[in-house]
Amino acid sequence: MNFRYQNPTLIEFGQGKISEISSLISKTKRVLVVYGGGSIKSNGVYEQVSKALSSFVWFEFGGVEPNPTVETLNKAVVFARENQVDFILAVGGGSVIDGSKYIANAFFYEGEGWDILEGKHTPTRALELGAVLTLAATGSESNTGAVITKKQTKEKRFFHSAFSYPKFAIMDPDVLKSLSQRQLANGVIDSFVHTCEQYLTYKHGLLAQDYYAEGILRALVELALSFDNRDDLWYANLMWLANQALNGLIGLGVPQDWATHYIGHELSGLYGIDHARTLAIIQPNLLRVLKEQKSEKLLQMGENVFKLENNTVDNVINTIENIYKTLGVDLKISSYTEDKDIKEKVINLLIKHGFTHFGEKGTIDSTVVGQILDKSI
Ligand code: NZQ
Ligand code: ZN
Repeated sequence: MNFRYQNPTLIEFGQGKISEISSLISKTKRVLVVYGGGSIKSNGVYEQVSKALSSFVWFEFGGVEPNPTVETLNKAVVFARENQVDFILAVGGGSVIDGSKYIANAFFYEGEGWDILEGKHTPTRALELGAVLTLAATGSESNTGAVITKKQTKEKRFFHSAFSYPKFAIMDPDVLKSLSQRQLANGVIDSFVHTCEQYLTYKHGLLAQDYYAEGILRALVELALSFDNRDDLWYANLMWLANQALNGLIGLGVPQDWATHYIGHELSGLYGIDHARTLAIIQPNLLRVLKEQKSEKLLQMGENVFKLENNTVDNVINTIENIYKTLGVDLKISSYTEDKDIKEKVINLLIKHGFTHFGEKGTIDSTVVGQILDKSI
């Protein structure tokens, strides 16, 4: 077992924690508050943030879209430079936090910011960043990932930067109560699939990672089953589980897959489908196509997570899919678009983005992607 682990993000978790912002940012900082389409203005979050920042010099940039676009974010970079800000406070879900990571990293780069997404530029510094999380799903509040879309070419790419860890993340589960059922379901699914991407590979014997992942999966199944009876603890559990699923811990030193995500990103880029919904469509079919390769871990999941009496790989996959159905997700791409060239477009984009042999064993090529998409369209 070999790994290096450091997660520097300070977490302030609990009701009323937004007021802590004032003690977490140096008073000398010029702060840029970045947010999305306005949900924070109707659920009281903006008010709490403004109050906490009352003794700071601060600016705001709103309008970051779900599946944030580089076109909008580049305007934020210009705005940040014009106002000489030196701290970014992201107030939102994964899109706003990812977008803020882009702004923070692109701020010091003179070239075209998209270079960072294409791997042509590796940031060597970034603005400091803090996050007030309003949607539990991505774990972006305490990881280094950011996923950005180029509207012009309908491409969705990701980058990791050592400078993207937020300095702090404020996680008040009360904030989740204004989310729609659709976004809450997305949160359960995204967290579930993040855990699977680091778990459903092959046996490796790293017990802490395996059993912790199974604990997260079991808890998410409980949340899915109690989805219609949400109490304070339900929201708090979702918020923490989503964080634990992708803060780096369960993935340490273990084989990882991420193929569902890579295919899903192309579908969001092309058709604007919610990130988690692309995963719910693709993952069960990917597992069906790769069930022999993944059979040991699928059976382990059937035993330790679902406790299936009739524990077969097919039953495990159907159980996963049924969770998504229970959460009300349409599981065919054709429910979201009438495009007839889905398969060709997705395969071409994956090749363009360098995904020619992926998955934990490098066995997913264009033919396999085609088989997965045939079942998904
Ligand atoms: O824009 P506003 O008005 O804020 O509305 C948002 C948005 O419409 C709304 N919302 C957020 N918090 C709310 C709220 N509405 C009411 N009450 C609240 N408290 O929810 C909608 C979706 O928000 P978004 O941020 O897009 O959702 P999510 O957190 O699921 O983020 C999805 C993005 O994250 C990327 C995805 O690809 C996608 O672009 N991911 C980022 C990852 C990472 N950084 O590690 C990993 C993930 O796998 C994922 O790829
Ligand atoms: Zn995800």
